[in-house]
Amino acid sequence: MDAGVITEAAAIIRGGGLVAFPTETVYGLGADACNARAVARIFEVKGRPRMDPLIVHVGGWEEALLYGEMSAPPARSLAERFWPGPLTLVVPRKDRTPWIVTAGLETVAIRVPAHPAALELIRASGCGIAAPSANRFGRVSPSEAIHVAQQLGEKVDLILDAGKCPVGVESTILSLAGAVPRLLRAGGTPLEEIENVIGEIERPTGDPSRPESPGQMERHYATRTPLTLTTEENLDPETLRSRRTGLLALVAPSRPEGFAAIEILSESGDLREAAANLFSALHRLDELNLDCLVAFQVPETGLGLAIMDRLRRCTAGLPDRNH
Ligand code: TXA
Ligand code: MG
Repeated sequence: MDAGVITEAAAIIRGGGLVAFPTETVYGLGADACNARAVARIFEVKGRPRMDPLIVHVGGWEEALLYGEMSAPPARSLAERFWPGPLTLVVPRKDRTPWIVTAGLETVAIRVPAHPAALELIRASGCGIAAPSANRFGRVSPSEAIHVAQQLGEKVDLILDAGKCPVGVESTILSLAGAVPRLLRAGGTPLEEIENVIGEIERPTGDPSRPESPGQMERHYATRTPLTLTTEENLDPETLRSRRTGLLALVAPSRPEGFAAIEILSESGDLREAAANLFSALHRLDELNLDCLVAFQVPETGLGLAIMDRLRRCTAGLPDRNH
């Protein structure tokens, strides 16, 4: 990315403004993590409840130490193995981290993003950058700059466009603040890979009405068009006859007839490729203003766990959620 643009973006961050920037997972809406007023604007622009804490994005381990207490035994080995990358660690907060960032919690979420533009922005700004995903609250996350422009547009001081985010789903969030490491959100770093480094970790209870993280509410990542999660075998053919239906599937369906639009996440069934395409495909389907969307379940291994988590939240609270 052009050095001049990064310099301009860093000046906005230092001046208390908001910059939407690419990370390897999704676009973030960033502000100087130490500027409480600037961080307050993030909540306003997103329409996000103040009780939902933000992730502090830093350039490396040394900088992480400024914001959080990184002394829990697995912290160092996880950082060495997965940073920069899509893993967020929740650790006890240090005084430098303003309360507005942690939403009053004694813990702070920290990660080192693996996107060159994000790292350059952090370095040029000279501070940690507090950033949620750059979507309106509850809506589908932005994996391309155009999604940010559509949802937040003029409310952001600058949008850094670096094309499509390579991982495509948000970071995996792991809490190291309790007695044992605990998964708070499935994401871009597969759980299996984390367990290879630190052994078995505690999984969420699976009850979406009791979120692990303040921000993991039941209905989230929602398309405006109602979405049903099902399998090709269980699909009710009536749906296709009576309503204009869009399909989201990992691989090409054996019976494509009757769908008004079809998005295939990966021709070869590769879950990494599918995750990278997930939010773009959801945005495209949503823009068609169809009557309903149907998503076929994917295997819950590797990045499939994060994909299914996002799709479940997309359907939560809808009357036809049991399909
Ligand atoms: O990949 C990502 O993580 C992207 C990019 C931009 O870095 N960011 C992202 O941020 O997904 P956001 O705000 O959309 O999701 C962060 C989640 C929220 O559910 C929030 O509640 C949770 O992290 N979180 C933040 N701080 C926490 C804390 N101290 N304890 C528990 N959960 C926390
Ligand atoms: Mg988000």
